[in-house]
Amino acid sequence: MGGQVVRALDNVDVEIEEGTFTVVMGPSGSGKSTLLYLLGGLDRATSGEISIEGERLDQMDENALALFRRRTMGFVFQSFNLISSMNALENVGFPMQFAGTSAKQRKTRAQELLAQVGLENRADHRPSELSGGQQQRVAIARALVNAPKLILADEPTGNLDTSSGSAVMRVLSDLHKAGRTVLVVTHDPRMTHFATHRIYLLDGRVVGEAEYESAALEALQIE
Ligand SMILES: Nc1ncnc2c1ncn2[C@@H]1O[C@H](COP(=O)(O)OP(=O)(O)O)[C@@H](O)[C@H]1O
Ligand SMILES: [Mg+2]
Repeated sequence: MGGQVVRALDNVDVEIEEGTFTVVMGPSGSGKSTLLYLLGGLDRATSGEISIEGERLDQMDENALALFRRRTMGFVFQSFNLISSMNALENVGFPMQFAGTSAKQRKTRAQELLAQVGLENRADHRPSELSGGQQQRVAIARALVNAPKLILADEPTGNLDTSSGSAVMRVLSDLHKAGRTVLVVTHDPRMTHFATHRIYLLDGRVVGEAEYESAALEALQIE
């Protein structure tokens, strides 16, 4: 950044087992999004290795990476990134257009996925006619079109009120229970309730819970 080197992540070594639900916690700027983007192949590290199921993401070219992402991962972001002129069904079916799926197949699959997030009766609603929590569930359904083994979510409840946030957490938890690997970056301590593993980040480093808690306490005292 300018002349200054920012080490968004430094010396991070993590392993995520298949079938786990991991939450990544850390204050703003600690490197949470960077970690998620690296794991998802949306960003590249200056150095180091990233493997998913034995495949080295850091050695893939852009095309291979894009293909790998599409086959393996589903992304959910804080802002739902839905297309405002499309209804829920069309939004979910949208990524399938590029996979050469027929319109009929797209519709059937999108309906199935909306049902999975509890929105089967909202198929013809546009984003503006849905609550934030419902929009995020549509975005989750869309992330599932290619049946990804790995779901990566960056503060998925960050823009939501408590009860909408809970519904989104339950959907992510259901996906985990159905056998998917889920990794969620979050500020929301309630999410840890669903997690099998936690990663704490401070200033780009992975730290233990005790160090994390004492840093959080210190920050409170400064305020
Ligand atoms: N493209 C970039 N260029 C320079 N610095 C960046 C860039 N992206 C993020 N950073 C910095 O890297 C650090 C980690 O950012 P980020 O991963 O977004 O943190 P978090 O998601 O935990 O808030 C921050 O200090 C941020 O300012
Ligand atoms: Mg972030």
